[in-house]
Amino acid sequence: MNSSETVAWLWATRLFIGNGKPVIIDYSSPNVAKPMHIGHIRSTVIGNAIDRLYRALGYNVIADNHLGDWGTQFGLIILGYREFADQEALKTAPVEELERIYVESYNRSKDDDTWRDRAKAELVKLQKGDPENRKLWSTFIELTLGEFNRIYKRLDVSFDLYRGESFYNDDLAKVIEQLEEKKLCGESDGALICNLEDDGLAVAIVRKSDGGYNYTTTDIATVISRTEEFQPSEIIYVTDERQQLHFKQFFHICKQLGIETKLTHVWFGLMRLPEATFSTREGNVIKLEALLDEAEARALDVVKASSPDMDEAQQKEVARAVGIGAIKYTDLSQNPQSLVTFTWEKALAMDGNSAPYLQYAYARIASVRDKYAEKFPETNPDDFPIILTEEQERRLALKLTRFPAAVATAARLHRPSVMADYLYDLSQAYSSFYQNVPFLRADEGPRESRIRLCTLTAAILKKGLSLLGIETPERI
Ligand code: ARG
Repeated sequence: MNSSETVAWLWATRLFIGNGKPVIIDYSSPNVAKPMHIGHIRSTVIGNAIDRLYRALGYNVIADNHLGDWGTQFGLIILGYREFADQEALKTAPVEELERIYVESYNRSKDDDTWRDRAKAELVKLQKGDPENRKLWSTFIELTLGEFNRIYKRLDVSFDLYRGESFYNDDLAKVIEQLEEKKLCGESDGALICNLEDDGLAVAIVRKSDGGYNYTTTDIATVISRTEEFQPSEIIYVTDERQQLHFKQFFHICKQLGIETKLTHVWFGLMRLPEATFSTREGNVIKLEALLDEAEARALDVVKASSPDMDEAQQKEVARAVGIGAIKYTDLSQNPQSLVTFTWEKALAMDGNSAPYLQYAYARIASVRDKYAEKFPETNPDDFPIILTEEQERRLALKLTRFPAAVATAARLHRPSVMADYLYDLSQAYSSFYQNVPFLRADEGPRESRIRLCTLTAAILKKGLSLLGIETPERI
């Protein structure tokens, strides 16, 4: 077996785990007319890694971006847009401008009854399908997605579906009917509620006293629709910790409705951002694009220091991969439920558990392989068997064989950090092998065997990092 066949073999057995079963992963899911906050960024990065791990195991993954594209705020935004939108700002910073419109309109509604009534009237028109308001609403979605898609592109994240909350509008009344039929809800102060107290959960409102439906109702409708259309073996939701109660509540109601689909909420804590970490920070909002720019700029300094002779265009390209990788890995390598503090020093460290460290390890291994090819152009290492004599060699080989299990565990636990830990351990096993066992100076035979171990390590680092959505430049 040659090296690439060995990797393929290591791998093949795992594809049967997923076996084409459909799995829906609901992640990122930001809200229209609002900037993404740090929670959406983490959801995007963690959700996408889970998405990649599941695909690698042979699941038929349906990545669904469940946009918050419906709700009472649209009455206020439509009215505000008509009255005081700044068209220029809508071109340069659309989401920011839409948010400004919303905030201003909301503030006016607080002490101006006429304004509030007008906003309400716009909302009712929108809900009834008034073509002009519908058109404005679609414009808001388009403007928001235009900006978010630029971020997704930079993060190399893509979705199979963009089904926002509005997609399920027409199903909401039916959900209530089902709940009533099964006697799962009752009236309380004009609202309709599900009493989950027996199960230790707070009451969930499914229809407000003004007749409007809410988040819980939409999510129940979403599960019903997804179950009918895709028969998924699991639906995975990735959000921040603040939504735990919401998910417990509607998962519970779904069970009472007789839905057997496995529902999983993967939650994470909000990463702490010490003051002065981001020059781009304004109030509590970090502009994601500016954050990515800053990561790339800082990575460029790292690359310029490590490869001063590389041409500038290539330095920039490598810095892009390193900067974006550093941001992603910081999100992925921690236990997502523990409180972490982001620092650039840790994210970009060349000698700790960081993306640049792993990327650098990969590039160094690739260069050993190239040096070998230069020195022994006539020999093909794949013609030699792998022989494990030294302790460090055996440890590295053992670690390599554990890759598929690490992928399976990371997916099963919905924890990309399991994959990150594995890759970090692997690079350390490699490093002690490389430092203690002679390589290019060894005799023919052991030399080729060791080169093959190198090639396998590089291949697995590359594959493993790609499952976290992180690129591996050949040089850093
Ligand atoms: N739009 C929501 C938010 O920004 C997240 C939606 C998560 N997905 C879901 N099906 N509830 O908080």
